[in-house]
Amino acid sequence: MSASPRPQAPDEAALDPDAMRQPLADAWYCVARSDALTSNALKAVELNGEQIVLGRDASGTAFALRDRCPHRGMALSKGRFDGTGLTCPFHGWRFGTDGRCRDVPTLSSSDAADFSKIAVHRFPVRESAGFAWVNPHLGSPSGADVPALPELGFTAAGSVVIELVVEASYDLTTLSLVDPGHVAFVHDSWWFRPSKDLREKVKTFTPTPHGFTMTSHATTTSSPVYRLLGGVPSVEIEFRLPGVRLERIVAGAKRVANYTFATPLTHNRTMLTNALYWNMPALNLLKPVARPLMRQFLTQDQQVLQHAQAGLDRKPTMVLFGQGDLPSQWYFRLKREALTAAREGRPFANPLVTQELRWRS
Ligand code: FES
Ligand SMILES: [Fe+2]
Repeated sequence: MSASPRPQAPDEAALDPDAMRQPLADAWYCVARSDALTSNALKAVELNGEQIVLGRDASGTAFALRDRCPHRGMALSKGRFDGTGLTCPFHGWRFGTDGRCRDVPTLSSSDAADFSKIAVHRFPVRESAGFAWVNPHLGSPSGADVPALPELGFTAAGSVVIELVVEASYDLTTLSLVDPGHVAFVHDSWWFRPSKDLREKVKTFTPTPHGFTMTSHATTTSSPVYRLLGGVPSVEIEFRLPGVRLERIVAGAKRVANYTFATPLTHNRTMLTNALYWNMPALNLLKPVARPLMRQFLTQDQQVLQHAQAGLDRKPTMVLFGQGDLPSQWYFRLKREALTAAREGRPFANPLVTQELRWRS
């Protein structure tokens, strides 16, 4: 069953983040809340250096186009959208939600120019767990087996969503989702960690299709947030490429899901989206309390990540050390496998094995 972790090779302990610095290009990233996409407005977002305009057509289907008019580069998100087409505000070119140019109103009837070949790049978009997800991969579809979109798995009675931009690289930000060692030092608020003492933790990590799952040995936990559920909850935390952390708490028929998604905006800006969902209507009363606490929690990550990024900007190396840092090493190993599998045109083969890890937090 659970093998003891193998000793770290020195070259694994000192990872050069330059090696695989880029976020995975062929993967789904959370770009907006689903309810932010309506058929009478356009929404501009950034994803991996691309400017993207999001919308929802009159039939309810979401779309994502490069936010750049081919004519003179104008942001189409600044233009009008009538539920079927986008009109550029600069010279009135019209585009369908498929990106194809439908009309160039300034053409004279004697002008032979054919605009049917003009198109704006269209990105694939999907909706899941209350969010819109875009795959920024360019070029022909790679056919790679891309990590599945997170699903909720129950009907939410309510949710709270917090989005925060972190001035840090995608990798550094994503590592905070799999880093048990920072919790005691960064998230030391009374409501999350009443005790300041570090305690020995033993957790089992099991490989999953594009990541790994952590299950608690002892399901008792000190957090008052968990105690709200009553009973002894079971907690499962899954990490999945490209940067998705899914914490699922189950106590009888009660469900709480705490999902965190990392989205690369530019090479040094990453958005963290934290969504808390529950299936007990009574918990809706706690929304006004939950929101500022979640924001505080995410801001703690944001602040420490920005300071760490400043250090990495001066010298871009990390020393990943001890069992508590193994999940961080696994992140890089999973990412390397995703890149290698895509390059070799073969399915992703999870390189991880079931392991028991011990650390103090
Ligand atoms: S820039 Fe868009 S129509 Fe000219
Ligand atoms: Fe954190």
